[in-house]
Amino acid sequence: MKIFFIGCGNMGEAFLKIGLEKKVFTNNEVVVFEKSSERKKYLKDTYSITIAEKLEDVQASEVVFLGIKPQNLEDLLIQRFEGKIVISILAGTRIVKIIEKFVGAKIARAMPNLGQFVKQGMSGIFFGTTFSVSEKDFVKSIFKAGGEVLEVDKELDLDNITAISGSGPAYFFYFTEKLIESALVLGFSKEMAEVLVRQTFLGSAEILNQYKDDSVADWRNKVTSRGGTTEKAIENFENSDFEKIVLESVRAAQKRAEELGA
Ligand SMILES: NC(=O)c1ccc[n+]([C@@H]2O[C@H](COP(=O)([O-])OP(=O)(O)OC[C@H]3O[C@@H](n4cnc5c(N)ncnc54)[C@H](OP(=O)(O)O)[C@@H]3O)[C@@H](O)[C@H]2O)c1
Repeated sequence: MKIFFIGCGNMGEAFLKIGLEKKVFTNNEVVVFEKSSERKKYLKDTYSITIAEKLEDVQASEVVFLGIKPQNLEDLLIQRFEGKIVISILAGTRIVKIIEKFVGAKIARAMPNLGQFVKQGMSGIFFGTTFSVSEKDFVKSIFKAGGEVLEVDKELDLDNITAISGSGPAYFFYFTEKLIESALVLGFSKEMAEVLVRQTFLGSAEILNQYKDDSVADWRNKVTSRGGTTEKAIENFENSDFEKIVLESVRAAQKRAEELGA
């Protein structure tokens, strides 16, 4: 099957690179359509894939991987793509918009996240129409090559996925930043604060990774002895309505995802 990447920037390249590495497709099966000649040269030289000179060349492929920015969808010329597959990772762009550009196509919409860059991605995926089992497997394999995949059965669920795992890495980095800032207030140098916090979170994430069947709360309880230091910190989080802040923030992201898709 030939797979045609339209827009191969940060995200597209991550999927291209990992897909080749994990042999989801071979370089002979990949065609890339990009904007700038610099980018085309870089992608051709790095991955030995074929570069398309015009969008119409898409007709020789069975699958499109759409990796442009949502605002660039308008620029694409309408293609007839009956029965073929389009995989879109465009945040907030609903299937009804994508089908206008790829008439008759079967559309799969996915919401990946930043973890894809380190093969620890989390992607939500929605199949907009009936896909055969092998077609679904192929689409999922592109995302599974760089992480986990969760299929949802309503397109609107992708807005919820966006608010949890799509934006999730930023929540994690935000909390990391705040703990680093706190370490600075306690008098540590920047280097010391960074190493203390980064290694702590790396270790905690690795525990979640290695002990997938254990509950997160159990692990938290292991470091929260009665009358101890951690208990005091957690008490303070709870008294400051941390839970409410997290939920409200997630709801704000979800609402914005809905607005962008409207
Ligand atoms: N980054 C994330 O964490 C994340 C997560 C989930 C979903 N997404 C989605 O992933 C998509 C790509 O994001 P990104 O960060 O990879 O963006 P990006 O780095 O800007 O990549 C988009 C690429 O498409 C090219 N392009 C623009 N218009 C084109 C056209 N008409 N034909 C062919 N190529 C075109 C751009 O070229 P120029 O730079 O020359 O314009 C650029 O190289 C977005 O829709 C975003 O919503 C991203």
